[in-house]
Amino acid sequence: MARRVGILTAGGDCPGLNATIRGVAKALYQKMDNVEIVGIVDGYKGLIEGEAHEMKQSDFSGILTQGGTILGTARTPYKSMRLKENDVDKVAAMKANYKKLKLDCVLTLGGNGTHKTANLLSEEGLNVIGLPKTIDNDIWGTDVTFGFHTAVDIGTEVVDRIHTTASSHKRVMVIEIMGNKVGWLTLYTGIAGGADIILIPEIPYDIKKVVKAVERRADRGRGFSVITVAEGVFDTEEAKMKKKERAEKRAQEGEVTATNRIARQINQLTGFDTRVVVPGHFLRGGTPSSYDRVLASQFGVYAAELVSRGVFGVAVAERHNMVTHNLLADVAGKTKFVPQDDQMVATARSLGIAFGD
Ligand code: F6P
Repeated sequence: MARRVGILTAGGDCPGLNATIRGVAKALYQKMDNVEIVGIVDGYKGLIEGEAHEMKQSDFSGILTQGGTILGTARTPYKSMRLKENDVDKVAAMKANYKKLKLDCVLTLGGNGTHKTANLLSEEGLNVIGLPKTIDNDIWGTDVTFGFHTAVDIGTEVVDRIHTTASSHKRVMVIEIMGNKVGWLTLYTGIAGGADIILIPEIPYDIKKVVKAVERRADRGRGFSVITVAEGVFDTEEAKMKKKERAEKRAQEGEVTATNRIARQINQLTGFDTRVVVPGHFLRGGTPSSYDRVLASQFGVYAAELVSRGVFGVAVAERHNMVTHNLLADVAGKTKFVPQDDQMVATARSLGIAFGD
């Protein structure tokens, strides 16, 4: 039976990491008398460099409500895992340190990149369990990831507050929401905050249609508009291009972000006073919501159950309100995009929200 359990948090942080770590630890201590938990510092970087420490039961007290991660995190891109850097073979180093730390298994809390590396380590023979964290909610095979709903709550507060000032000044407010590849957070935040227009990467926009939606509101006497834009959004022309081409085009235009360009174009085409708001990492900071505390606790407890049953090479997930697991091999390398015909998109359209398509 797995007795010595390593835990790491990798990639961008989010609310709920500590609540998950606590859930795992509490359940493991309940289940097994002789369990030892090893905290690996700064994600896979710590596993590569052998930076880890044994943890005490008291280390897991008082962290349920704490934002960030007590273990630290770092971005160690999956694509560089097989590349030698400073003569270090990262995969070999991780395997050696796993052995040196006498781990029976390692739990990896992270997003898509983290799950890809988790699968790689699993294929290399290590006992690995992934736990789905990200405000982007884009991990394949799970309906929800921890961190997502807290970010929706924070984003909603931003939209609410922007609404009142937008209305007072009769401005078009363009709010950029995190989400490089997917639009879940922008979609939920937009609906919860009553946005007029939602722009997401899965539905390329046509600026003329965005402008039309703003003008239609003005014609109906609504002199202001609130637009939520996912940071990774692109227009119908850019949709035909490769990522690199798109970046080059933006640089040539002198505007790196789509959000700034959208605001400028609306101003030029309508004459409306326009402002950009970027909450950025605010969306990832601070205490988890009650929803995420509960979800993180459920995921943590479920992972401990998998450890005690010796089930590895899997990723914890929630489907249809049941906590379950998928094979890491099935999760790795996939992204859960917003389907264009998603029920939530249809809901938004029925509310009169425009997508610029
Ligand atoms: O993966 C979550 C995420 O919040 C993305 O939406 C965003 O693009 C990215 O992280 C930015 O994170 P960082 O600034 O930490 O690299």
